[in-house]
Amino acid sequence: TKKPVIAIDGFSSTGKSSISKIIAKKLGLIHMDTGALYRGITYYAIQNCVNLDKTIDIEKLISELPKINLEFQNIDGELQLFLNGKNIDKEIRFPQVSDNVSQVAKEAEVRNYLLTTQRDIAKKGGVIMDGRDIGTVVLPEADYKFFMTASQDERARRRFLELELAGEKTDIETVKQNLILRDKIDSEREISPLKQADDAILIDNTNINKEETIALILSYIKKF
Ligand code: C5P
Repeated sequence: TKKPVIAIDGFSSTGKSSISKIIAKKLGLIHMDTGALYRGITYYAIQNCVNLDKTIDIEKLISELPKINLEFQNIDGELQLFLNGKNIDKEIRFPQVSDNVSQVAKEAEVRNYLLTTQRDIAKKGGVIMDGRDIGTVVLPEADYKFFMTASQDERARRRFLELELAGEKTDIETVKQNLILRDKIDSEREISPLKQADDAILIDNTNINKEETIALILSYIKKF
């Protein structure tokens, strides 16, 4: 039978991407981290479209969207993001990008620009896509939809450990404030807000680890 299309949405730092990556490997699906695309555009904006006060010049960014070519390339079995031919997979995780991405992602033009890229990938089936609006807007016909959540404290703790491991100097309170702000902008925006699709399965992993979360999600997926 046909390989499924799986949508995984949810709050920041619930482990969506790393969990999706592992499930993709186990089931032989392609994994697409859609947050990376929004981060890629934000990275471009930080380099090329800033006002004198260092805020992002959204109008300039929108006019330059046609100049932005984002593409995933397979590097040693992992999809890494390239912007106009340059590998930016590390750079898109920098705090400066995290701090500005939600502001960029709320723009209709930005979302439309990325919609085709995302849908094209899902056309062939056999994909697991993680993001904020995959089950609601990008792939409403997905075979499986999951919505991931966890407590704010637990998510802040996980994100902090991740940043610490990557050598970033920060503290847990700053990390928590970024998460809260990002979730607020993502949930309250007019276009494609972060919300659970009516037919999505809720996965709360506050009290279970990564392996248990993976097993829980896999328990819902029928053999194909
Ligand atoms: O998943 P990640 O935290 O890397 O996503 C970064 C940001 O990109 C989110 O906070 C959100 O503003 C935006 N995003 C989105 N829609 C998606 C994926 C990400 O708006 N499908």
